[in-house]
Amino acid sequence: MVDKIKNYIAEVEKFTASTQEEVENFRIKFLGQKGILKEFFAEFKNVPNESKKEFGQTINELKTAAQDKVNELREALESKLEENGVYGDLTRPGEPVEIGSRHPISIVKNQIIEIFSNIGFNVSEGPEMEDDWHNFTALNLPEYHPARDMQDTFFIQTDPEEILLRTHTSSVQVRYMEDNQPPIRTISPGRVFRNEAISARSHCIFHQVEGLYIDKGVSFADLKQTLLYFTKQLFGKSKIRLRPSYFPFTEPSAEVDIYWGLETETDYRITKGTGWLEIMGCGMVDPNVLKNCNIDPNEYSGFAFGMGIERIAMLLYQISDIRMFYENDVRFLNQFKSVL
Ligand code: PHE
Repeated sequence: MVDKIKNYIAEVEKFTASTQEEVENFRIKFLGQKGILKEFFAEFKNVPNESKKEFGQTINELKTAAQDKVNELREALESKLEENGVYGDLTRPGEPVEIGSRHPISIVKNQIIEIFSNIGFNVSEGPEMEDDWHNFTALNLPEYHPARDMQDTFFIQTDPEEILLRTHTSSVQVRYMEDNQPPIRTISPGRVFRNEAISARSHCIFHQVEGLYIDKGVSFADLKQTLLYFTKQLFGKSKIRLRPSYFPFTEPSAEVDIYWGLETETDYRITKGTGWLEIMGCGMVDPNVLKNCNIDPNEYSGFAFGMGIERIAMLLYQISDIRMFYENDVRFLNQFKSVL
């Protein structure tokens, strides 16, 4: 009999429960009105006198063990319930960490950088606030040159020296040429500023990437080949045309059009029905510019090009309004995911 009770004690000690209901069933089984303990106590009177002491002690042991177990499990389950209330289910897998998305302008800028760094261009940067020399004069735009009006400039200070917000990142190229002798292969991404009315197609702040290549014997053919490579890499299209144009810092100068095609309704809209789309300006660096930057034009020649990142991003992502880039609407920004 005593052994039987001891087995029960072992059972009680091993018992675990995950719900209050299981605890209650356990309690009824051992401590209930018709429970095991009741039965043993009823048995007591039949136990021979010499065994009564041991028998009594063992039943008491079982009783205490069962009561302790019930109390312990009830408490444990209650506090688990409380934790659930405060912290939720602690065994639930963690919330995934939301990774932010890059701004589309950064994505396209990084793509352009990658394409040019694959053919040996490095990246150079310069100040957004510039002096007249780096933004204009060194670039063959002396004072009163009419072409200064092409770029509606925000002036910060005019006296004693003109300080302005750069209107293009060609200013960075001037700085780079002043500090480095050829061979030079560099691209200059950055923010530029022009005093233009804000509309769906233009903004007073935008971004450019300009490129510069200077070495011995660089020709227009090198420029064209570089542009072919670039358009193929970025757009997957390499039908381009160079339209004669004018920039004070390049001679000859050209505007680059890419053949976008006329396959869809949108193509018609984007290219105004011509299939062609202007994407950048370029040309051979004017010898005056080289001279201004202490590079000997008799020894070296080079080409330069410049493009607006917004314009290219609008094309790649079919965005119809440039202002979207600056509104920081998360519904817009969330759509852009990139590894670059
Ligand atoms: N700097 C010119 C612009 O901002 C672009 C350009 C760069 C054109 C280099 C020719 C060569 O419009």
